[in-house]
This record gives sequence, structure tokens and C-alpha cells, in this order.
Amino acid sequence: MTDTTSLILSPYDNSGIAVRNRIAVAPMTRITATEDGHPTQTMFDYYLRFAKGGFGLVVTEGIYTDKAFSQGYRFQPGLSDSTQAQAWAAFNRDMQARGAHVFAQLMHAGALSQGNIYRTHTVGPSAVRPKGKQMEFYHGNGLYPEPRPMTDAEIDEAVQGYVDAAQRAVNIAGFSGVEIHGANGYLLDQFLTAETNRRTDRWGGDTKARVRLLADVVSTVKRNLGSTVPVGIRISQGKVNDYVSKWQGGEADAEIIFGTLAAAGANFIHVTEHEAWQPAFDGTQDSLVTLARRYAPNVTIIANGSLHTAGRISHALSTGADIVTVGRGALANPDLPEVLARKRQPKTFDSSILHPVASIKDAELAMLADG
Ligand SMILES: Cc1cc2nc3c(=O)[nH]c(=O)nc-3n(C[C@H](O)[C@H](O)[C@H](O)COP(=O)(O)O)c2cc1C
Repeated sequence: MTDTTSLILSPYDNSGIAVRNRIAVAPMTRITATEDGHPTQTMFDYYLRFAKGGFGLVVTEGIYTDKAFSQGYRFQPGLSDSTQAQAWAAFNRDMQARGAHVFAQLMHAGALSQGNIYRTHTVGPSAVRPKGKQMEFYHGNGLYPEPRPMTDAEIDEAVQGYVDAAQRAVNIAGFSGVEIHGANGYLLDQFLTAETNRRTDRWGGDTKARVRLLADVVSTVKRNLGSTVPVGIRISQGKVNDYVSKWQGGEADAEIIFGTLAAAGANFIHVTEHEAWQPAFDGTQDSLVTLARRYAPNVTIIANGSLHTAGRISHALSTGADIVTVGRGALANPDLPEVLARKRQPKTFDSSILHPVASIKDAELAMLADG
């Protein structure tokens, strides 16, 4: 084994995150749950392949949190009641017995919801119609509707939704940790982003005000779960409906955002960019991974974005990341850790392997991957 590979395959144990290697599966929505949000055997078989292939950690697809406005897609799994949560319990025991931990990604779609069995309209921070078109790949059609601005009571309800879903995820479903989806244009990222957050109350204004809701969700979930369960948050600049978006304040924004989330008690920050090694902003050489490490020095940093080869993974680990997640690379190579251990060349991702909609349009796939 080369030095590069041995670092990737070495265990990691910090902040309650104890995994057998540094390579994890990125969250990927597969819309293969039942219509009422229960996981299926198809999903379990999909995830089990990664445990068998040597991954130490899997982050689930985005799971909706409540029976109000959080659901994003039809056939998305939920953790909005104890029956949905119970349905994951045997699966999580099986994954752990095979040496893999699973973190539940808790997702509120906000204005990007395009399929919600509980509500017919969408909400967001402000009445700003999302850019772009709904993703046909996820059963969407046409423009996104203009969301209704959330009331204070609805914001409280959404926070409570994360808290309740996190408790069900850990105490009933048996997940090893939770990742709050703060990235890719969904509700929390809508609050973080100046274009979609025009509020003049305590949730809107400068970057410090716009990150407040993300920090509140992290600290409230953390307080409710207790200190031993890892709680983290996923952060990006790009969005599924606007993948070239950048933080307007550049590195100053990065300092506020990562510093605030660290102070809120996040055990890990999962940073995603299209190509994780690229400079985060014009005028800097530092990637978002390096900036996250700089401004959240004691937090576990997970990096994502086109890190599909040993060389790229190892570069991310040497520039600030503790763990790397792979999305498309894991779909193409469910046994990527073993492939790397044997020094074989990983297979290249081919979008036709995506199930259940085999004919995913390349443009939509690019949006997902770039978000
Ligand atoms: C089919 C598909 C579904 C995705 N669903 C999610 C999701 O549910 N939650 C999320 O945070 N990111 C999601 N993503 C983004 C991936 O986690 C990841 O950021 C992206 O694929 C880029 O990483 P990669 O270059 O390793 O593939 C999805 C990506 C793909 C390809």
C-alpha cells in the first residue's frame, strides 16, 4: 500500500465520529421510498453494497423532517413519525455489524419542494421564486412556485421538525449521527443566501444574521441529542438550481459562517463544491475545505466534490479535510475502499446506472452534482 492509500484507509476517531477509514458515501437522493416516506428493501440493498465494499461511513439521501413543508420529492423517505423511523432500525443494526456507520441527512426543501404529500404550497424565507426549473428526474415539472414567506411560528415549527426527526433518527432508527442539510439551495441555504433571504427581522440582513437559523438548528439539535451523538451540517456555495452561486463576502463570509457553526457546537462540517480543490473565490488560492479548516479548527471537516481518485482524495486530506465523501464515484464503485486498497483504477461514473429513472438528463445530473 502506498502512503497515499494508507492515509485514506486509516481509521478516524474524533468528536464522537469513529470510522474505519477516511472515505465515506455522499448523500444521494434516489426517490425509491414508498409514497408515504418509508424506506424500502431496494434502498437497504443499495446502502448495504457500500458497507460490503469497505466504506466506513454512509450519509443517507436527504430525509424529510416533518409533515408540514419539509418534503422535497415524491418517494423521498421521511423521519416525520416513529413508524417511518422504526423502519430503518434493523437496517442500521446490519450496517453497524458490517463495520459501517450511517448518518441520517435531515432535509427541509423549503422553496425547492417539488413534491409534498402533506402540503400544496411551498414556503421559504421570502417571496422569491427560485431560479431555474423543477427537476424532471425527481418528478418535477415547470417553474418552481413562488414560496410564501415563513411566519415566526413556521420557523419555530421547522426547527422543532429537525429536533424531533434527529431524536427519532438516533433513538428509534439507530442512526449513528445526523447531518443537517444546510447546502445546495434547500431551506437553510435559502436563509443563508442574500438573494433568497430578503427578511428584515432577526433571520435576515448581513451574513451573521443569515447564518443564525443554521446555527440555531445545529445547537438545538445538539442540545436535545446530548454530547455523545455527532451532529454536523452540510454547507455549499452552489445550489441545485444555481450551481455557480458564490458567497458575496468571499473569505469574510467563510469566516463568519464556519466560525458561527463551530461555535454552535457542530461536530462536523461537510463542505461541498463542484471540484473541492478549486479556489473558493476569485482572488484566493484557498479552497472552501481549507477555509473551513481555518475558521473551524476543532471541527471535523468532511470534503466533497469530484474526489473520485486516490490522488484527489489524498490532496483533500492534506489541505484540511479529515474525511472525504464520494457521490458518483461511489455509485460507479460501491467497493471504492477495496479498489483503492488493491491499487486498482476506479471505474468512471456513467449516469445510465442511476435508478429508477435511467434516462436522467445530463444537464440535471450536472445540477445535482454541482449543487
Ligand atoms: C443522484 C444524486 C442525488 C443527490 N442527492 C443529494 C442529497 O439528497 N443530498 C445532498 O446533500 N446532496 C445530494 N447530491 C449531491 C452529492 O452528495 C454530491 O455533492 C455530488 O454528487 C458531488 O459529489 P461527487 O463529485 O462525489 O459525485 C446528489 C447527487 C447525485 C448525483
